[in-house]
Amino acid sequence: MSTLDSNAIAILGGTGDQGLGLALRFAAAGRPVRIGSRKEERALAAAEEVRGKVRGADVTGHENAEATRRAEIVILSVPFEHTAPTVKGLTAALAPGQILVSMGVPLATAIGDGPVRTVGVWQGSCAELVASLAPDGVHTVSAFQNVPAHRLQDLPHAVECDVIVSGDKAPRERVMELCKLIPSVRAVNGGPLANARYVEAWTALLIGLTVRYKVPEGMGFRLTGLPE
Ligand SMILES: NC(=O)c1ccc[n+]([C@@H]2O[C@H](COP(=O)([O-])OP(=O)(O)OC[C@H]3O[C@@H](n4cnc5c(N)ncnc54)[C@H](OP(=O)(O)O)[C@@H]3O)[C@@H](O)[C@H]2O)c1
Repeated sequence: MSTLDSNAIAILGGTGDQGLGLALRFAAAGRPVRIGSRKEERALAAAEEVRGKVRGADVTGHENAEATRRAEIVILSVPFEHTAPTVKGLTAALAPGQILVSMGVPLATAIGDGPVRTVGVWQGSCAELVASLAPDGVHTVSAFQNVPAHRLQDLPHAVECDVIVSGDKAPRERVMELCKLIPSVRAVNGGPLANARYVEAWTALLIGLTVRYKVPEGMGFRLTGLPE
């Protein structure tokens, strides 16, 4: 019998670069983390890796559906091309009131092209695709697309970037609070979910910049002129 912990954060595909980076950061901030995977043993191994790096971390590993049932906030951390099947596979596990965070970027790698371009998504963005598939009452919020995985995983160093968070007001504010758990990450109110289309496209731009400027650890954005 799984128990929902309102303080916990589930990260589906938390075995990959970006999900593991977020797991490390949230665990370091003292939040319970539920790592999800298609294979429980991969999730258990990722959880062990986080516990090895963050002393006392409350991190457990589960199959994706089980991780989903254990947290109010569920972050999708799978490549764009696997987003729709993953969300469709979670409909029985998701419950009204949960927040589903879309971090996916429709990079053209999904169709065998390069990562410095995006492909069109009928719904407008990966986040709106997720929202179109999520069960009624589940709130989709867009965030973390412009944060590089390597910087997240580099625990001794600050990440240093802004995260634009889009979606309905109450769930958006919950996710903005999560951003503050990561040192030197600033949450920016990105308004309605439809604005995710701009934020997702910036990731392709960032990938091109990291190649041109030879910054393998990745780059982020900082907005100027925002009132404190
Ligand atoms: N990497 C970055 O710097 C970065 C930055 C910003 C945003 N993002 C976004 O974050 C998300 C994850 O990126 P990533 O670099 O961490 O990706 P990744 O390492 O390539 O994959 C993440 C996880 O997705 C799961 N996965 C793979 N194939 C799948 C399938 N067919 N069906 C369901 N799940 C599958 C795997 O978990 P299991 O095998 O354990 O199930 C894998 O560990 C993407 O949407 C990406 O656009 C990444």
